Amino acid sequence: MAKIKRKGTPLDEKGSTVKKIEISGHNGRSRILVGERLKNLSSYLPQKRTIIITDDPVAGFYQPDFPAAEIIRIGTGEGSKTLDTVKEIYRRLIEWSADRSVFLLGIGGGIVCDMTGFAASTYLRGVRFGYAPTTLLAQVDASVGGKTGVNFLGYKNMVGVFSQPEFVICDPEVLKTLPRPALSAGFAEIVKHAAIADASYFGYLEKNAAAALALDPVVIERVIYDSVKIKAEIVNQDETEKGERRKLNFGHTFGHAVEKTIGVSHGEAVSIGMMAAARLSQNRGLLSETDVGRLRRLLETFYLPVKISADPAGIIDAQARDKKREGEGIHFVLLSGIGRAVVEKMDLADLKQVVYAMA
Ligand SMILES: NC(=O)c1ccc[n+]([C@@H]2O[C@H](COP(=O)([O-])OP(=O)(O)OC[C@H]3O[C@@H](n4cnc5c(N)ncnc54)[C@H](O)[C@@H]3O)[C@@H](O)[C@H]2O)c1
Ligand SMILES: [Zn+2]
Repeated sequence: MAKIKRKGTPLDEKGSTVKKIEISGHNGRSRILVGERLKNLSSYLPQKRTIIITDDPVAGFYQPDFPAAEIIRIGTGEGSKTLDTVKEIYRRLIEWSADRSVFLLGIGGGIVCDMTGFAASTYLRGVRFGYAPTTLLAQVDASVGGKTGVNFLGYKNMVGVFSQPEFVICDPEVLKTLPRPALSAGFAEIVKHAAIADASYFGYLEKNAAAALALDPVVIERVIYDSVKIKAEIVNQDETEKGERRKLNFGHTFGHAVEKTIGVSHGEAVSIGMMAAARLSQNRGLLSETDVGRLRRLLETFYLPVKISADPAGIIDAQARDKKREGEGIHFVLLSGIGRAVVEKMDLADLKQVVYAMA
């Protein structure tokens, strides 16, 4: 099974330390480098041909730092994350006579990374690829764990494969151009990682939230590193989501129902979902009122919602439809303390009670 190695390597000319986490997935080893700079990307690329996949906003900000290579730009937004866009990528690769030795490099947010991984894993039955994620969410979540894919018929991430990139370069410097809501979306997943796996990291976030939001270099690098480490450790135990990896769904079961129903962003929905799960945990005697309060305050510090601002009935309906699809009961990730997650089966009635109290 997969192993994780961690070590710090001084690489940057300013003397900052690049930290490395390794994942060994079923299709090979993946290196995640936190604190490495975008402009050093070329030293990670093979001698042979590289083709970059990115989008207009990212190219607009960072193309001067890209390694010399041909570039495919794709559209932005979930509406572009489709098989049609993947077809467009294949068409360009064929037009440019890209053979099996090509290396595809995704530079962008989660959408660019997910599609680069999917296109690379299917073109000519699989070519080499790597990511330089440029959003906080992509650095701590989307680029870690080997899930690639696209939306289909309106269903998110319906078609895809598990496939690990050769490397992931996380440069915190590029986060400076991200709008605040995009940063908050990343922090929702960061709070999730701390809440399910590491009480002392949760404490660190409580103490350093303002510095993290201000992208203080030391703090944000540590936060990215700790989050990647938690996700990587979980993925290494369960790459294809049969057990342990389910813990990463904390806040997501109910969050998905919220996202579908009241038109908030994924990060905001997950924040509401985490609060609902925390209250459910409290009702089951697993989590104290104090710890529920700590989670609520931390989410609020990151400008994330903790209450439901719409009629909860629609959300409960959406959850009921999901439940029907799942078959027997809803599996909910609960907390049995800050830093400890448990998966339990839940009745819709239990959830209803909590949700109405949050409205
Ligand atoms: N594979 C996984 O395990 C996994 C996990 C979580 C999320 N995801 C996927 O990730 C996607 C969401 O990713 P996201 O939140 O990064 O959104 P995104 O990829 O849509 O990027 C958001 C926007 O920010 C812009 N942008 C990117 N970097 C920027 C920068 N440094 N400065 C300014 N603007 C920048 C992009 O051009 C884009 O318009 C979803 O499709 C989701 O399904 C995948
Ligand atoms: Zn999420």
